[in-house]
Amino acid sequence: MNLQFAEEIIEGLSSTPKQLSSKWFYDKIGDGLFVKIMNMPEYYLTDAEYEIFSKQTSAILDEFEVNKSQLELYELGAGDGTKTIQLLKAMDPKNFTYHPIDISENALNQLQERLAKELPEVSVAPVQGEYFEVLESLSKNESKIILFLGSNLGNMHDDVAKQFIKQLAEQMQAGDKLLLGLDKMKSKAIILPAYNDKQGYTEAFNLNLLSRINSEFDADFNLAQFEHRPNYDEETGIASSALVSKCKQTVNIKSLDRTFEFEENESIQTEISRKYNLDILENVFAGSGLAIKKEFNDSRNYFMNVLLEKN
Ligand code: AVI
Repeated sequence: MNLQFAEEIIEGLSSTPKQLSSKWFYDKIGDGLFVKIMNMPEYYLTDAEYEIFSKQTSAILDEFEVNKSQLELYELGAGDGTKTIQLLKAMDPKNFTYHPIDISENALNQLQERLAKELPEVSVAPVQGEYFEVLESLSKNESKIILFLGSNLGNMHDDVAKQFIKQLAEQMQAGDKLLLGLDKMKSKAIILPAYNDKQGYTEAFNLNLLSRINSEFDADFNLAQFEHRPNYDEETGIASSALVSKCKQTVNIKSLDRTFEFEENESIQTEISRKYNLDILENVFAGSGLAIKKEFNDSRNYFMNVLLEKN
């Protein structure tokens, strides 16, 4: 039994409002659904970031100052590496080692196989583990560039993101760089469909959290009695997803020896996907010792890649 998941289920479903962290979306089924979501036309984030990486490659590499010294390129949550490969292709393989970091052994193996085929001359040293465990084990004396793409930062509340950036910065030395991919604040008409695709992949992705609890903890969530409900608040820039109980019901989680009562319309908050502007970012980066060096935008101005440098 995954004890951390067990604890979070008990705590999250006992609190008001009920909540579960989106980090538990990503089992094998969830990984597959997320790939499907990224291919949906409504989910503009992936295309926008891909466009930045493919059309502004040399501008990004100029900022990396890659030819200055041997450098270590780390990527947090590398996934299938499609965007990063655009950069790797344009870099001189003699100058760097690429370290994809991911919690999923499976994802790392697939990425390594893909790189061996597409870019055999690049030296790849994958690291399996949680971001911080891995980062803490790194030497501070190497020149580092860290990639954290796909607006993954947006799945953290601002206080957590701030702490995360601070901890990340502590592992960096002066001149090291961090490239973040961040979704921008914009109209609800664009953002909401990205979290409610017509094919229903996002709905299935959210509901999969309950089927995961059913199979891992012998629970009896009836998926047909919960509804995926996305929301976007244009004022705060926060997109959020919840699972809403369609009726009054009791759910039994056998392995945890617990039952949980749901009122009709009661929700479980499952995810936030924060959208950014520069003011919000200034607050997140404040006190970290990182300063914005350059900002890259896609042609529709939906998404940005922000390059930060350690002072
Ligand atoms: C991984 N993360 C940045 C995605 C997002 O946009 O928040 C996860 C996701 N959730 C629903 N669709 C995609």
